Amino acid sequence: MEQPTENGVELPLDRNLTILYGSQTGCAQDVAERIGREARRRHFRAKVIAMNDYDKARLIHEKLAVFVCSTTGQGDEPDNMKKFWKFLLRKNLPPDLLSQMDYAVFGLGDSSYTKFNYPAKKLHKRLSQFGARSIVPRGDADDQHYLGVDGTLDPWLENLWTTIMDHYPLPPGLSIISADTLFPPSFRLRFLCNGDERPPMESGGCEDGFTVQVVRNERMTADDHFQDVRHIELEVVEGEVSYNPGDVAILQPHNLPSDVSDFLQTIGWSDLADDPFVIDPNQQGDFLNRTLPAHWPRVLTLRRLFEDHLDVFSVPRRSFFEILAFFTQDQRQTEKLREFASAAGQDDMYAYCQRVRRTLAEVLFDFSSAKVPLDYVLDLIPELRARQFSIASAAQSHPSQIHLCVAIIKYKTKIRKIRRGVCTKWMATLKPGDEIHHVKITRGTMRAPGSPTTPLIMIGPGVHINIYSPFTLSKEKRNHSSRLIPITCDT
Ligand SMILES: Cc1cc2nc3c(=O)[nH]c(=O)nc-3n(C[C@H](O)[C@H](O)[C@H](O)COP(=O)(O)OP(=O)(O)OC[C@H]3O[C@@H](n4cnc5c(N)ncnc54)[C@H](O)[C@@H]3O)c2cc1C
Ligand SMILES: Cc1cc2nc3c(=O)[nH]c(=O)nc-3n(C[C@H](O)[C@H](O)[C@H](O)COP(=O)(O)O)c2cc1C
Repeated sequence: MEQPTENGVELPLDRNLTILYGSQTGCAQDVAERIGREARRRHFRAKVIAMNDYDKARLIHEKLAVFVCSTTGQGDEPDNMKKFWKFLLRKNLPPDLLSQMDYAVFGLGDSSYTKFNYPAKKLHKRLSQFGARSIVPRGDADDQHYLGVDGTLDPWLENLWTTIMDHYPLPPGLSIISADTLFPPSFRLRFLCNGDERPPMESGGCEDGFTVQVVRNERMTADDHFQDVRHIELEVVEGEVSYNPGDVAILQPHNLPSDVSDFLQTIGWSDLADDPFVIDPNQQGDFLNRTLPAHWPRVLTLRRLFEDHLDVFSVPRRSFFEILAFFTQDQRQTEKLREFASAAGQDDMYAYCQRVRRTLAEVLFDFSSAKVPLDYVLDLIPELRARQFSIASAAQSHPSQIHLCVAIIKYKTKIRKIRRGVCTKWMATLKPGDEIHHVKITRGTMRAPGSPTTPLIMIGPGVHINIYSPFTLSKEKRNHSSRLIPITCDT
Protein backbone atom coordinates (compact mmCIF):
# COMPACT_ATOMS: atom_id res chain seq x y z
CA MET A 1 0.00 0.00 0.00
CA GLU A 2 1.25 3.49 -0.81
CA GLN A 3 2.21 5.50 2.28
CA PRO A 4 0.25 8.79 2.57
CA THR A 5 2.46 11.89 2.48
CA GLU A 6 2.21 15.46 3.78
CA ASN A 7 4.41 18.04 2.01
CA GLY A 8 6.43 15.12 0.68
CA VAL A 9 6.96 13.70 4.22
CA GLU A 10 5.59 10.23 4.89
CA LEU A 11 2.91 10.20 7.59
CA PRO A 12 3.02 7.09 9.82
CA LEU A 13 0.01 4.88 9.18
CA ASP A 14 -1.15 5.17 12.79
CA ARG A 15 -1.38 8.97 12.62
CA ASN A 16 -5.16 8.82 12.56
CA LEU A 17 -7.46 10.60 14.98
CA THR A 18 -11.19 9.98 14.99
CA ILE A 19 -13.40 12.53 16.72
CA LEU A 20 -16.92 11.32 17.41
CA TYR A 21 -19.60 13.70 18.67
CA GLY A 22 -23.14 13.67 20.02
CA SER A 23 -24.76 17.08 19.85
CA GLN A 24 -28.36 18.26 20.17
CA THR A 25 -28.03 21.96 19.35
CA GLY A 26 -24.59 22.19 17.77
CA CYS A 27 -22.21 23.17 20.62
CA ALA A 28 -20.59 19.73 20.93
CA GLN A 29 -20.31 19.53 17.14
CA ASP A 30 -18.54 22.91 17.13
CA VAL A 31 -16.09 21.63 19.78
CA ALA A 32 -15.50 18.41 17.79
CA GLU A 33 -14.81 20.39 14.61
CA ARG A 34 -12.37 22.63 16.47
CA ILE A 35 -10.51 19.54 17.71
CA GLY A 36 -10.55 18.29 14.10
CA ARG A 37 -8.91 21.50 12.83
CA GLU A 38 -6.33 21.44 15.62
CA ALA A 39 -5.56 17.77 14.88
CA ARG A 40 -5.17 18.57 11.19
CA ARG A 41 -2.61 21.26 12.10
CA ARG A 42 -0.67 18.55 13.97
CA HIS A 43 -0.64 16.38 10.83
CA PHE A 44 -3.22 13.85 11.96
CA ARG A 45 -5.57 12.37 9.41
CA ALA A 46 -8.58 13.60 11.39
CA LYS A 47 -12.20 12.57 10.87
CA VAL A 48 -15.05 14.33 12.65
CA ILE A 49 -18.24 12.25 12.64
CA ALA A 50 -21.59 12.23 14.48
CA MET A 51 -21.63 9.05 16.59
CA ASN A 52 -24.74 7.63 14.89
CA ASP A 53 -23.17 8.10 11.43
CA TYR A 54 -19.99 6.27 12.41
CA ASP A 55 -19.36 2.76 11.07
CA LYS A 56 -19.15 0.87 14.39
CA ALA A 57 -17.24 -2.01 12.80
CA ARG A 58 -14.28 0.40 12.63
CA LEU A 59 -14.15 0.88 16.42
CA ILE A 60 -11.85 -2.09 16.96
CA HIS A 61 -9.29 -0.51 14.61
CA GLU A 62 -9.24 2.94 16.23
CA LYS A 63 -5.95 3.62 18.04
CA LEU A 64 -6.78 7.17 19.09
CA ALA A 65 -10.26 8.63 19.50
CA VAL A 66 -11.76 11.72 21.10
CA PHE A 67 -15.44 11.66 22.11
CA VAL A 68 -17.37 14.90 22.57
CA CYS A 69 -20.97 14.80 23.76
CA SER A 70 -23.56 17.05 25.32
CA THR A 71 -26.58 16.25 27.50
CA THR A 72 -30.21 16.79 26.67
CA GLY A 73 -33.59 16.14 28.35
CA GLN A 74 -32.91 14.93 31.89
CA GLY A 75 -29.39 13.54 31.60
CA ASP A 76 -30.12 11.97 28.17
CA GLU A 77 -27.82 11.43 25.20
CA PRO A 78 -28.31 13.73 22.18
CA ASP A 79 -30.36 12.16 19.37
CA ASN A 80 -27.34 11.71 17.08
CA MET A 81 -25.57 9.64 19.76
CA LYS A 82 -28.43 7.37 20.86
CA LYS A 83 -27.89 4.54 18.34
CA PHE A 84 -24.15 4.44 19.04
CA TRP A 85 -24.71 4.40 22.80
CA LYS A 86 -27.27 1.59 22.49
CA PHE A 87 -24.67 -0.41 20.57
CA LEU A 88 -22.07 0.09 23.33
CA LEU A 89 -24.58 -1.19 25.90
CA ARG A 90 -25.01 -4.53 24.12
CA LYS A 91 -24.33 -7.40 26.51
CA ASN A 92 -22.70 -9.66 23.91
CA LEU A 93 -19.72 -7.37 23.22
CA PRO A 94 -16.34 -8.80 24.35
CA PRO A 95 -14.79 -7.12 27.45
CA ASP A 96 -11.53 -6.40 25.57
CA LEU A 97 -13.36 -4.87 22.57
CA LEU A 98 -11.38 -1.61 22.70
CA SER A 99 -8.09 -2.75 24.25
CA GLN A 100 -6.19 -1.15 21.32
CA MET A 101 -7.71 2.31 21.90
CA ASP A 102 -6.39 5.47 23.60
CA TYR A 103 -9.28 7.84 24.20
CA ALA A 104 -10.41 11.12 25.71
CA VAL A 105 -13.95 12.27 26.55
CA PHE A 106 -15.20 15.85 26.71
CA GLY A 107 -18.74 16.44 27.97
CA LEU A 108 -20.91 19.54 27.64
CA GLY A 109 -23.58 20.11 30.25
CA ASP A 110 -25.12 22.44 32.74
CA SER A 111 -24.61 21.91 36.46
CA SER A 112 -28.03 23.42 37.21
CA TYR A 113 -29.44 20.06 36.02
CA THR A 114 -29.37 17.17 38.50
CA LYS A 115 -27.86 14.78 35.97
CA PHE A 116 -24.88 16.94 35.10
CA ASN A 117 -22.99 15.63 32.05
CA TYR A 118 -24.40 12.11 32.46
CA PRO A 119 -23.82 10.83 28.89
CA ALA A 120 -20.12 11.85 28.98
CA LYS A 121 -19.68 10.24 32.41
CA LYS A 122 -21.37 7.01 31.31
CA LEU A 123 -19.49 6.91 28.01
CA HIS A 124 -16.13 7.44 29.72
CA LYS A 125 -16.85 4.56 32.10
CA ARG A 126 -18.13 2.24 29.36
CA LEU A 127 -15.07 2.79 27.13
CA SER A 128 -12.76 1.90 30.01
CA GLN A 129 -14.86 -1.23 30.74
CA PHE A 130 -13.97 -2.34 27.20
CA GLY A 131 -10.25 -2.01 27.95
CA ALA A 132 -9.67 1.39 26.27
CA ARG A 133 -7.11 3.68 27.99
CA SER A 134 -8.13 7.17 29.00
CA ILE A 135 -5.20 9.49 28.20
CA VAL A 136 -6.48 12.62 30.00
CA PRO A 137 -9.09 13.19 32.73
CA ARG A 138 -12.61 13.69 31.37
CA GLY A 139 -13.53 17.32 30.62
CA ASP A 140 -16.89 18.46 32.04
CA ALA A 141 -17.88 21.79 30.48
CA ASP A 142 -20.55 23.68 32.37
CA ASP A 143 -22.94 26.30 30.94
CA GLN A 144 -22.82 27.90 34.40
CA HIS A 145 -19.14 28.83 33.92
CA TYR A 146 -18.98 32.56 33.19
CA LEU A 147 -17.08 31.79 29.96
CA GLY A 148 -19.42 28.94 29.04
CA VAL A 149 -17.95 25.84 27.39
CA ASP A 150 -14.61 27.55 26.65
CA GLY A 151 -13.92 28.03 30.37
CA THR A 152 -13.29 24.27 30.60
CA LEU A 153 -12.38 23.51 27.00
CA ASP A 154 -9.25 25.67 26.69
CA PRO A 155 -7.26 24.12 29.58
CA TRP A 156 -8.57 20.65 28.70
CA LEU A 157 -7.38 20.97 25.09
CA GLU A 158 -3.98 22.20 26.17
CA ASN A 159 -3.53 19.09 28.29
CA LEU A 160 -4.95 16.86 25.54
CA TRP A 161 -2.52 18.09 22.88
CA THR A 162 0.50 17.92 25.20
CA THR A 163 -0.38 14.31 26.00
CA ILE A 164 -1.17 13.30 22.43
CA MET A 165 1.99 14.90 21.04
CA ASP A 166 4.05 13.03 23.68
CA HIS A 167 2.57 9.75 22.46
CA TYR A 168 2.54 10.69 18.78
CA PRO A 169 5.44 13.10 18.13
CA LEU A 170 5.54 14.81 14.75
CA PRO A 171 7.35 12.87 12.03
CA PRO A 172 10.80 14.37 11.28
CA GLY A 173 10.59 17.24 8.79
CA LEU A 174 7.11 18.36 9.83
CA SER A 175 6.10 21.15 12.20
CA ILE A 176 2.71 22.21 13.53
CA ILE A 177 0.80 24.06 10.81
CA SER A 178 0.33 27.67 11.88
CA ALA A 179 -3.10 28.79 13.06
CA ASP A 180 -2.84 31.45 10.31
CA THR A 181 -3.19 28.76 7.63
CA LEU A 182 -6.65 28.49 6.14
CA PHE A 183 -7.83 24.95 5.35
CA PRO A 184 -9.78 24.27 2.16
CA PRO A 185 -13.57 24.75 2.42
CA SER A 186 -15.79 21.73 3.17
CA PHE A 187 -17.97 22.43 0.12
CA ARG A 188 -17.86 24.17 -3.23
CA LEU A 189 -20.76 26.26 -4.57
CA ARG A 190 -21.17 25.58 -8.29
CA PHE A 191 -23.28 28.29 -9.92
CA LEU A 192 -25.42 26.99 -12.77
CA CYS A 193 -25.19 28.49 -16.23
CA ASN A 194 -28.18 28.85 -18.54
CA GLY A 195 -27.46 25.64 -20.43
CA ASP A 196 -26.91 23.48 -17.31
CA GLU A 197 -29.41 20.78 -16.47
CA ARG A 198 -31.12 21.77 -13.21
CA PRO A 199 -32.18 19.34 -10.53
CA PRO A 200 -35.49 20.39 -8.89
CA MET A 201 -35.46 23.32 -6.46
CA GLU A 202 -37.79 21.51 -4.03
CA SER A 203 -36.41 19.44 -1.20
CA GLY A 204 -37.01 15.76 -0.59
CA GLY A 205 -40.81 16.15 0.02
CA CYS A 206 -42.15 14.59 3.19
CA GLU A 207 -39.51 11.82 3.48
CA ASP A 208 -37.97 13.93 6.21
CA GLY A 209 -40.96 14.66 8.49
CA PHE A 210 -44.48 15.69 7.47
CA THR A 211 -46.26 18.84 6.31
CA VAL A 212 -48.77 20.82 8.37
CA GLN A 213 -51.00 23.79 7.59
CA VAL A 214 -51.58 26.59 10.07
CA VAL A 215 -55.23 26.75 11.18
CA ARG A 216 -54.98 29.30 14.01
CA ASN A 217 -52.24 31.48 15.45
CA GLU A 218 -53.76 33.60 18.23
CA ARG A 219 -52.32 35.53 21.10
CA MET A 220 -53.46 34.04 24.43
CA THR A 221 -52.09 36.72 26.73
CA ALA A 222 -53.62 40.15 27.31
CA ASP A 223 -52.29 42.92 25.05
CA ASP A 224 -50.75 44.70 28.03
CA HIS A 225 -48.99 41.56 29.32
CA PHE A 226 -45.21 41.68 28.72
CA GLN A 227 -45.14 38.32 26.95
CA ASP A 228 -46.85 37.39 23.71
CA VAL A 229 -47.88 33.74 24.09
CA ARG A 230 -49.56 32.07 21.10
CA HIS A 231 -52.01 29.25 20.74
CA ILE A 232 -51.08 27.68 17.40
CA GLU A 233 -53.20 24.99 15.72
CA LEU A 234 -51.65 22.94 12.93
CA GLU A 235 -53.50 20.53 10.62
CA VAL A 236 -51.50 17.63 9.22
CA VAL A 237 -51.95 17.75 5.42
CA GLU A 238 -49.28 15.37 4.21
CA GLY A 239 -47.83 12.35 5.94
CA GLU A 240 -48.91 10.25 8.91
CA VAL A 241 -48.95 11.47 12.47
CA SER A 242 -49.58 9.90 15.85
CA TYR A 243 -48.50 11.13 19.26
CA ASN A 244 -48.91 10.58 22.98
CA PRO A 245 -49.24 12.98 25.90
CA GLY A 246 -45.80 14.39 26.66
CA ASP A 247 -44.57 14.16 23.05
CA VAL A 248 -42.77 17.04 21.42
CA ALA A 249 -43.12 18.56 17.91
CA ILE A 250 -39.89 19.48 16.13
CA LEU A 251 -40.06 22.48 13.80
CA GLN A 252 -37.43 23.73 11.39
CA PRO A 253 -37.32 27.55 11.70
CA HIS A 254 -36.96 30.07 8.88
CA ASN A 255 -35.53 33.57 8.75
CA LEU A 256 -37.86 36.34 7.61
CA PRO A 257 -37.47 37.38 3.93
CA SER A 258 -37.11 41.09 4.83
CA ASP A 259 -34.31 40.35 7.34
CA VAL A 260 -32.51 38.20 4.76
CA SER A 261 -32.85 40.87 2.04
CA ASP A 262 -31.32 43.46 4.39
CA PHE A 263 -28.51 41.07 5.30
CA LEU A 264 -27.71 40.22 1.65
CA GLN A 265 -27.62 43.91 0.84
CA THR A 266 -25.30 44.69 3.77
CA ILE A 267 -22.85 41.97 2.86
CA GLY A 268 -22.95 42.92 -0.83
CA TRP A 269 -24.50 39.71 -2.19
CA SER A 270 -27.83 41.15 -3.40
CA ASP A 271 -26.86 40.86 -7.07
CA LEU A 272 -26.16 37.14 -6.68
CA ALA A 273 -29.07 36.45 -4.32
CA ASP A 274 -31.28 34.61 -6.81
CA ASP A 275 -28.66 32.86 -8.95
CA PRO A 276 -29.06 29.08 -8.65
CA PHE A 277 -26.19 26.85 -7.56
CA VAL A 278 -25.54 23.32 -6.33
CA ILE A 279 -23.34 22.49 -3.36
CA ASP A 280 -20.66 19.88 -4.02
CA PRO A 281 -18.53 18.26 -1.31
CA ASN A 282 -14.92 19.39 -1.57
CA GLN A 283 -12.64 16.34 -1.63
CA GLN A 284 -9.66 18.40 -0.41
CA GLY A 285 -11.51 19.75 2.61
CA ASP A 286 -13.50 16.72 3.70
CA PHE A 287 -11.73 15.96 7.00
CA LEU A 288 -14.69 17.35 8.91
CA ASN A 289 -16.76 14.73 7.09
CA ARG A 290 -19.62 17.16 6.68
CA THR A 291 -22.69 16.21 4.69
CA LEU A 292 -25.67 18.36 3.82
CA PRO A 293 -28.90 17.64 5.74
CA ALA A 294 -31.31 15.36 3.85
CA HIS A 295 -34.05 18.00 3.65
CA TRP A 296 -31.91 20.58 1.81
CA PRO A 297 -32.83 20.95 -1.88
CA ARG A 298 -30.18 20.04 -4.43
CA VAL A 299 -30.39 23.47 -6.10
CA LEU A 300 -30.29 26.56 -3.92
CA THR A 301 -29.90 30.31 -4.16
CA LEU A 302 -28.24 32.52 -1.56
CA ARG A 303 -31.69 33.88 -0.66
CA ARG A 304 -33.07 30.38 -0.04
CA LEU A 305 -29.91 29.36 1.82
CA PHE A 306 -30.25 32.24 4.28
CA GLU A 307 -34.05 32.14 4.58
CA ASP A 308 -34.31 28.39 5.14
CA HIS A 309 -31.02 26.85 6.19
CA LEU A 310 -28.34 29.08 7.74
CA ASP A 311 -28.51 30.61 11.21
CA VAL A 312 -27.22 34.08 10.40
CA PHE A 313 -29.29 35.79 13.12
CA SER A 314 -28.01 33.69 16.01
CA VAL A 315 -25.22 34.61 18.43
CA PRO A 316 -21.89 33.41 16.97
CA ARG A 317 -19.69 30.79 18.57
CA ARG A 318 -15.94 31.17 18.92
CA SER A 319 -15.16 29.24 15.70
CA PHE A 320 -17.00 31.95 13.74
CA PHE A 321 -14.39 34.55 14.81
CA GLU A 322 -11.56 32.11 14.10
CA ILE A 323 -12.72 31.55 10.50
CA LEU A 324 -13.86 35.13 9.80
CA ALA A 325 -10.37 36.41 10.71
CA PHE A 326 -9.06 34.82 7.49
CA PHE A 327 -11.23 37.06 5.34
CA THR A 328 -10.83 40.57 6.78
CA GLN A 329 -8.80 42.97 4.66
CA ASP A 330 -8.16 45.44 7.49
CA GLN A 331 -5.26 44.28 9.70
CA ARG A 332 -6.76 45.78 12.89
CA GLN A 333 -10.01 43.92 12.32
CA THR A 334 -8.10 40.68 11.69
CA GLU A 335 -6.21 41.12 14.96
CA LYS A 336 -9.40 41.86 16.88
CA LEU A 337 -11.10 38.74 15.50
CA ARG A 338 -8.05 36.60 16.35
CA GLU A 339 -8.16 38.00 19.86
CA PHE A 340 -11.87 37.08 20.17
CA ALA A 341 -11.01 33.56 18.98
CA SER A 342 -8.17 33.14 21.48
CA ALA A 343 -8.33 31.83 25.05
CA ALA A 344 -7.03 35.18 26.35
CA GLY A 345 -9.71 37.15 24.48
CA GLN A 346 -12.73 35.33 25.91
CA ASP A 347 -13.69 38.07 28.38
CA ASP A 348 -13.70 40.66 25.58
CA MET A 349 -15.55 38.35 23.23
CA TYR A 350 -18.15 37.69 25.91
CA ALA A 351 -18.65 41.43 26.50
CA TYR A 352 -18.83 42.22 22.76
CA CYS A 353 -21.01 39.32 21.74
CA GLN A 354 -22.63 37.03 24.29
CA ARG A 355 -23.70 39.59 26.88
CA VAL A 356 -25.55 41.74 24.34
CA ARG A 357 -26.61 38.74 22.20
CA ARG A 358 -25.02 40.26 19.07
CA THR A 359 -25.89 38.27 15.94
CA LEU A 360 -23.60 36.88 13.23
CA ALA A 361 -25.13 39.34 10.76
CA GLU A 362 -24.25 42.24 13.07
CA VAL A 363 -20.69 41.02 13.54
CA LEU A 364 -20.29 40.77 9.75
CA PHE A 365 -21.56 44.34 9.54
CA ASP A 366 -19.11 45.54 12.25
CA PHE A 367 -16.17 43.78 10.58
CA SER A 368 -17.06 45.24 7.22
CA SER A 369 -13.65 44.67 5.66
CA ALA A 370 -14.41 40.91 5.57
CA LYS A 371 -14.78 39.51 2.06
CA VAL A 372 -16.09 36.00 2.66
CA PRO A 373 -15.52 33.65 -0.32
CA LEU A 374 -18.85 31.98 -1.05
CA ASP A 375 -17.31 28.49 -0.78
CA TYR A 376 -16.66 29.16 2.93
CA VAL A 377 -20.21 30.23 3.81
CA LEU A 378 -21.10 26.76 5.09
CA ASP A 379 -17.95 26.56 7.24
CA LEU A 380 -18.56 30.02 8.68
CA ILE A 381 -22.29 30.08 9.36
CA PRO A 382 -23.99 27.23 11.26
CA GLU A 383 -27.16 25.48 10.17
CA LEU A 384 -30.53 26.66 11.42
CA ARG A 385 -31.35 24.11 14.11
CA ALA A 386 -34.81 22.69 14.62
CA ARG A 387 -36.66 23.78 17.80
CA GLN A 388 -38.83 21.62 20.04
CA PHE A 389 -42.34 22.45 21.26
CA SER A 390 -44.39 20.36 23.69
CA ILE A 391 -47.62 19.26 22.06
CA ALA A 392 -50.53 20.87 23.89
CA SER A 393 -53.31 18.77 22.30
CA ALA A 394 -54.37 15.15 22.78
CA ALA A 395 -54.41 12.95 19.67
CA GLN A 396 -57.71 11.39 20.83
CA SER A 397 -59.47 14.79 20.79
CA HIS A 398 -57.69 16.19 17.68
CA PRO A 399 -56.60 13.19 15.58
CA SER A 400 -55.15 15.13 12.62
CA GLN A 401 -54.06 18.23 14.50
CA ILE A 402 -51.18 19.40 16.64
CA HIS A 403 -51.67 22.33 19.01
CA LEU A 404 -48.78 24.31 20.42
CA CYS A 405 -48.48 26.96 23.08
CA VAL A 406 -45.56 29.19 22.15
CA ALA A 407 -43.94 32.04 24.07
CA ILE A 408 -42.63 34.57 21.53
CA ILE A 409 -39.10 35.49 22.63
CA LYS A 410 -38.55 39.26 22.68
CA TYR A 411 -36.36 41.08 25.18
CA LYS A 412 -34.06 44.06 25.60
CA THR A 413 -30.33 43.62 26.18
CA LYS A 414 -27.90 45.78 28.15
CA ILE A 415 -27.41 47.99 25.06
CA ARG A 416 -31.21 48.43 25.03
CA LYS A 417 -31.48 46.72 21.69
CA ILE A 418 -34.58 44.59 21.16
CA ARG A 419 -33.71 40.95 20.52
CA ARG A 420 -36.05 38.35 19.07
CA GLY A 421 -35.87 34.55 19.16
CA VAL A 422 -34.97 33.10 15.75
CA CYS A 423 -37.76 30.51 15.57
CA THR A 424 -40.51 32.31 17.47
CA LYS A 425 -39.99 35.51 15.46
CA TRP A 426 -40.90 33.47 12.39
CA MET A 427 -43.73 31.60 14.15
CA ALA A 428 -45.31 34.90 15.21
CA THR A 429 -45.77 35.75 11.50
CA LEU A 430 -47.51 32.49 10.53
CA LYS A 431 -51.02 32.94 9.11
CA PRO A 432 -53.87 30.46 8.58
CA GLY A 433 -53.17 28.55 5.36
CA ASP A 434 -49.36 28.79 5.63
CA GLU A 435 -47.61 25.44 5.29
CA ILE A 436 -44.75 24.17 7.43
CA HIS A 437 -42.66 21.31 6.07
CA HIS A 438 -40.40 18.70 7.68
CA VAL A 439 -42.24 18.68 11.00
CA LYS A 440 -41.30 15.74 13.21
CA ILE A 441 -42.51 14.32 16.50
CA THR A 442 -40.33 12.87 19.19
CA ARG A 443 -40.95 11.30 22.58
CA GLY A 444 -40.77 13.81 25.40
CA THR A 445 -39.24 13.13 28.80
CA MET A 446 -42.63 13.28 30.56
CA ARG A 447 -44.75 10.10 30.59
CA ALA A 448 -48.17 9.43 32.12
CA PRO A 449 -48.24 6.70 34.79
CA GLY A 450 -49.42 3.28 33.56
CA SER A 451 -52.82 3.47 35.22
CA PRO A 452 -55.06 6.40 34.21
CA THR A 453 -56.59 6.40 37.72
CA THR A 454 -53.26 7.29 39.38
CA PRO A 455 -53.57 10.82 40.83
CA LEU A 456 -51.18 13.31 39.26
CA ILE A 457 -49.69 16.51 40.59
CA MET A 458 -48.55 18.49 37.56
CA ILE A 459 -46.24 21.45 38.06
CA GLY A 460 -45.30 23.55 35.02
CA PRO A 461 -44.07 27.10 35.48
CA GLY A 462 -45.01 29.69 32.85
CA VAL A 463 -45.71 28.42 29.34
CA HIS A 464 -44.66 24.89 30.34
CA ILE A 465 -48.06 24.37 31.96
CA ASN A 466 -49.23 23.50 28.40
CA ILE A 467 -47.34 20.20 28.60
CA TYR A 468 -50.10 18.95 30.87
CA SER A 469 -53.16 19.69 28.78
CA PRO A 470 -52.70 16.48 26.69
CA PHE A 471 -52.56 14.46 29.93
CA THR A 472 -55.83 15.92 31.22
CA LEU A 473 -57.56 15.90 27.81
CA SER A 474 -56.72 12.27 27.11
CA LYS A 475 -57.71 11.24 30.63
CA GLU A 476 -61.16 12.80 30.21
CA LYS A 477 -61.58 11.24 26.78
CA ARG A 478 -60.97 7.81 28.28
CA ASN A 479 -63.88 8.48 30.65
CA HIS A 480 -61.93 7.91 33.80
CA SER A 481 -63.00 9.87 36.80
CA SER A 482 -60.81 12.94 36.75
CA ARG A 483 -60.89 15.97 38.92
CA LEU A 484 -58.71 18.80 37.79
CA ILE A 485 -57.81 21.48 40.31
CA PRO A 486 -55.72 24.10 38.52
CA ILE A 487 -53.55 26.29 40.71
CA THR A 488 -51.91 29.08 38.77
CA CYS A 489 -49.05 31.32 39.70
CA ASP A 490 -47.31 34.30 38.19
CA THR A 491 -43.74 33.52 37.10
C1 LIG B 1 -38.33 19.53 25.10
C2 LIG B 1 -38.62 21.00 24.85
C3 LIG B 1 -39.93 21.44 24.81
C4 LIG B 1 -40.21 22.80 24.61
N1 LIG B 1 -41.51 23.20 24.58
C5 LIG B 1 -41.81 24.51 24.39
C6 LIG B 1 -43.18 24.96 24.35
O1 LIG B 1 -44.11 24.18 24.48
N2 LIG B 1 -43.41 26.29 24.16
C7 LIG B 1 -42.39 27.20 24.00
O2 LIG B 1 -42.67 28.38 23.83
N3 LIG B 1 -41.09 26.79 24.01
C8 LIG B 1 -40.77 25.49 24.18
N4 LIG B 1 -39.45 25.07 24.18
C9 LIG B 1 -38.39 26.06 23.85
C10 LIG B 1 -38.26 26.17 22.31
O3 LIG B 1 -37.74 24.97 21.78
C11 LIG B 1 -37.31 27.29 21.87
O4 LIG B 1 -36.07 27.12 22.52
C12 LIG B 1 -37.85 28.67 22.20
O5 LIG B 1 -39.07 28.84 21.53
C13 LIG B 1 -36.89 29.77 21.75
O6 LIG B 1 -36.56 29.58 20.42
P1 LIG B 1 -36.17 30.80 19.49
O7 LIG B 1 -35.52 30.26 18.28
O8 LIG B 1 -37.34 31.71 19.30
O9 LIG B 1 -35.11 31.58 20.38
P2 LIG B 1 -33.53 31.59 20.19
O10 LIG B 1 -33.15 32.39 19.01
O11 LIG B 1 -33.05 30.19 20.26
O12 LIG B 1 -33.11 32.39 21.46
C14 LIG B 1 -33.31 31.84 22.73
C15 LIG B 1 -32.21 32.40 23.61
O13 LIG B 1 -32.46 33.79 23.81
C16 LIG B 1 -31.99 34.15 25.08
N5 LIG B 1 -33.08 34.81 25.82
C17 LIG B 1 -34.39 34.50 25.78
N6 LIG B 1 -35.08 35.34 26.58
C18 LIG B 1 -34.16 36.17 27.12
C19 LIG B 1 -34.23 37.25 28.05
N7 LIG B 1 -35.39 37.65 28.56
N8 LIG B 1 -33.08 37.88 28.39
C20 LIG B 1 -31.89 37.48 27.87
N9 LIG B 1 -31.77 36.47 27.01
C21 LIG B 1 -32.88 35.83 26.64
C22 LIG B 1 -31.56 32.90 25.81
O14 LIG B 1 -30.16 32.81 25.72
C23 LIG B 1 -32.19 31.79 25.00
O15 LIG B 1 -31.40 30.63 25.02
C24 LIG B 1 -39.15 23.73 24.41
C25 LIG B 1 -37.83 23.27 24.43
C26 LIG B 1 -37.56 21.92 24.66
C27 LIG B 1 -36.12 21.46 24.70
C1 LIG C 1 -33.54 20.98 26.86
C2 LIG C 1 -32.19 20.88 27.49
C3 LIG C 1 -31.92 19.89 28.43
C4 LIG C 1 -30.66 19.79 29.04
N1 LIG C 1 -30.44 18.82 29.98
C5 LIG C 1 -29.23 18.75 30.60
C6 LIG C 1 -29.00 17.76 31.62
O1 LIG C 1 -29.86 16.98 31.99
N2 LIG C 1 -27.75 17.72 32.18
C7 LIG C 1 -26.74 18.58 31.81
O2 LIG C 1 -25.65 18.48 32.35
N3 LIG C 1 -26.95 19.53 30.84
C8 LIG C 1 -28.16 19.64 30.23
N4 LIG C 1 -28.37 20.59 29.25
C9 LIG C 1 -27.29 21.52 28.88
C10 LIG C 1 -26.63 21.14 27.54
O3 LIG C 1 -26.05 19.86 27.59
C11 LIG C 1 -25.56 22.19 27.22
O4 LIG C 1 -26.19 23.44 26.99
C12 LIG C 1 -24.70 21.84 26.01
O5 LIG C 1 -23.70 22.82 25.84
C13 LIG C 1 -25.51 21.73 24.73
O6 LIG C 1 -24.67 21.20 23.72
P1 LIG C 1 -25.24 20.80 22.25
O7 LIG C 1 -25.57 22.10 21.59
O8 LIG C 1 -24.10 20.12 21.57
O9 LIG C 1 -26.40 19.90 22.42
C14 LIG C 1 -29.63 20.70 28.67
C15 LIG C 1 -29.90 21.71 27.72
C16 LIG C 1 -31.16 21.81 27.13
C17 LIG C 1 -31.43 22.92 26.13
